[in-house]
This record gives sequence, structure tokens and C-alpha cells, in this order.
Amino acid sequence: MAGTRVCLHGAAFLHHHETHLFLPCLRLHTSGGFQLRRSVPASPSAERRHGNLKAASEKSVLSLSRLPSPEYLKRRTRSGVEFDLDLYRRYAAAGHVPVMFCEVLEAFRIPGFRSFVDCTLGAAGHSSAIIEDHKELELFVGLDMDPLAHDRAHTRIEALLRDGCRKELKAYTHVKNFKYIKTVLGSIDENILRKGVDGIFMDLGISSMQIDHSERGFSVLGDGPLDMRMDPQATLTADDILNSWPEAEVGRILRDYGEESNWWFLKEKIMKARKKGGLHSTRELVDLVRKTSAKSGGRQGWIKTATRVFQALRIAVNDELQTLQNALYACFDCLSSGGRLAVISFHSLEDRIVKKTFLDVIEIEGEADGEGYTSQKNDEFGTEAQIQLKQRVVGRTGTILTKRPLTPSEDEEKLNSRCRSAKLRVIQKH
Ligand SMILES: C[S@@+](CC[C@H](N)C(=O)[O-])C[C@H]1O[C@@H](n2cnc3c(N)ncnc32)[C@H](O)[C@@H]1O
Repeated sequence: MAGTRVCLHGAAFLHHHETHLFLPCLRLHTSGGFQLRRSVPASPSAERRHGNLKAASEKSVLSLSRLPSPEYLKRRTRSGVEFDLDLYRRYAAAGHVPVMFCEVLEAFRIPGFRSFVDCTLGAAGHSSAIIEDHKELELFVGLDMDPLAHDRAHTRIEALLRDGCRKELKAYTHVKNFKYIKTVLGSIDENILRKGVDGIFMDLGISSMQIDHSERGFSVLGDGPLDMRMDPQATLTADDILNSWPEAEVGRILRDYGEESNWWFLKEKIMKARKKGGLHSTRELVDLVRKTSAKSGGRQGWIKTATRVFQALRIAVNDELQTLQNALYACFDCLSSGGRLAVISFHSLEDRIVKKTFLDVIEIEGEADGEGYTSQKNDEFGTEAQIQLKQRVVGRTGTILTKRPLTPSEDEEKLNSRCRSAKLRVIQKH
């Protein structure tokens, strides 16, 4: 097992000024639940627009009511946890800006929080905050399948333990895919699996560090080889898919994993490129997308298409969707009674898997409604308590605490455009 115990060495320095680090962002915190912003009344201009639409055509109003606009949905799910700029700056300083930071801290603000697993260490932004916020923590385990991310996170956590004098906290980090969570925990101590852990966290996708290193092949804007492996030991690369996978498979991943409407045309161009030596760099792939999307107009058009194509390839290279589904079941098994699993996803394919798997693991009883939940009226939110109640879906083995996923606050979106598509869902085991 390629794991590392995070050791304490050197002098210990207590940072007294950090004791109340998290108080500012917890001002709006209400225990054991999440706060969603109330649906705000439409602005006068929005009302005007709505009025004009109504007058324009009955049909369009009908279709609007069936398909709420993304902005309306966003308002209903926006986090109400106060955004803390100082905290944000503090943990953003290591190459990657942690997303929905205060909301994640809220998710794990539960009594008796002694053990925590971060399945996606990245730059250890979330992990550092959780460790600092929970002086009672006795066990920390961090995983990342990218050895570079792991090494960086390991160094950061080691420094944190040393400076915070946290000798009582046993911390381990592993270069490992999170689908092996049970094996990892069992290898540390078999009792962990028997007792379960109090918190498990997943912050899916790739980090800014991976995007910014163009030689990893994740960046639409940089130039590098068509790699896209999070685990450099893995054998399959994006180059293999584009240049040697069967035509139908290339089409399928563009359509199903990229949700790209232009998938057939793009697939045809990729097949044509094969006849001229194939595609071997991200720039060549982006050029192909740009030429193919020329008619649909503008930089935004081709960048969005290229982003979807890169997403599709990345999902296939790293087998992200199947891995996520299997890992969610494994993580739920690893929770203690009362323990929580929180997952941040970044696109609808991931979010759908999280939502459905959560529903499945809690063993919901009764009739499911259109959203996949048992009937609970979704009226306008009332008091704080009602907001929290309406966010819960209770099953036989667990409770979903975020019936609607939480999305970042407007303040966070202004500072970090990469967080825009983030959705946080949380489940608690009974
Ligand atoms: C968005 S970053 C996490 C950032 C982290 N929360 C922070 O605050 O710095 C996602 C990380 O998860 C890792 N990762 C993605 N899928 C994984 C998997 N199946 N197993 C282990 N690590 C994975 C990636 O390599 C990446 O470093």
C-alpha cells in the first residue's frame, strides 16, 4: 500500500490568532442543516420581461413554466452561508482555490467528529480547513490518485500538524483512487471499517494545478500532449481514444460524456484527421473544434464546445462516472452511524449520479415523485426550521440533507469563476 503516515517533526508553534478562525463564516450557521436562500421576488425588470413574454405568446409562457431558467434554479439553490473573504484568501493560497469552502465546513460541523477522509486531496485546501476547525479530530486520511497533488497535499498537511502541535491526530495520505477507500482504511486499521468514519468528502474533477500544467493535457487554452490521465501510471490516454478507438465509441463519448449536440460532425472530423496522421496535441484538437464550430459563432461558441469535448475525453480516460458510482456506495458503507458524506460535483452527469446513488443508499420508502423523491410539498420556504426540513429526505438507512444541491454564493462566484458549476450534496447515515 503506497500510503504515507504524516509525521510530526521539528518545533511546534501555536498560532493563537487562528483559534476563532471559523467564527465569522458561521454566523448564519444553524446546527445540523443547511441554509438555502429564500426564493427572491423577481426584480421589476424581470417582471416586465415576464409580462412581455406572457403577452407575446401563451405557448412560450407554458414552456417557460415547464422549464425554469437556469438563473431561477440557481436562486433556489444558492448557499445562504455567509462568504468569508479572509478565510477564502487564506486557503486559496496554494495553487488551487477550494470551492464552497464554508459550506463544506458546515457539512461536517457535527458532534463527536473524530475521523475524516478526504477522497480528493488536491492542494489540501478543504482538508487543511477541516483539520484546523476540528481540534477533536483523531484520524485523518487523505487520498489522491495524482502523485503530484498527493505530494503537495502531504507537505501542506505535515506543516499544518507541526505548526498546530497536533500530536494526537493520526494522519495518513495515500496515492490511491478513491474507489479503493475500503482497502485503504482496512490497511490502516481494521477497526476503522468496523466503527466507521465520521466524515467523508469528495471534491470531484481536476484541480487548478492540473489544468494550469498544460503538459497534463487538461487545458483548452494551453498546449500539451493529449494525455488527461489523473493517474500517470494508467495506460489509457486521450490520444489513444482519439486516434485508435472505434469510430462509434468516439461518437458515443462525445455525445454521452460531453453532452455535445454537434457530436456527430466532430466525430467525422476526428476520423478525417486520423487519415492525415491523427491528433496529438491539445492545440490540434482545439483547432479542429474551432474550425468545426466556426459557423455557430464566436470565441464563446468554440470554447464551450472544446470544454465539452475535453470533459468527454477526461471522463473516458479516467473512467470517472463508473468510478464515482462505485465509490459512493463504498463511502456510505464506510460511514459511522451519524457520519456524513459530502460531495461537490461540477457537471450534470456527475450530479445525476450523486443524486440517484444517494436516493438508492438511503433506501427510501414510499412513492417517488417526479424529482425522484418521496412526496413532500415544495411550497415557498417559510421559517429557517422549515427550510431545513424541506431540504431533508429521510430513508431507512440514511437522510439526504440537501434535497436540492447547494450552489456557491454570488460573492464566491465573483471571485472564482471556476466554482460556477459546483453543486454540493450531503447525506447522513442513520
Ligand atoms: C478539485 S480537486 C480537489 C481540491 C481539494 N479539495 C482542495 O481543496 O485543494 C480534485 C482532486 O481529486 C483527484 N481525483 C479525482 N478523481 C479521483 C479519484 N477517483 N481518486 C482519487 N483522486 C481523485 C484529482 O487528482 C484532484 O487532485
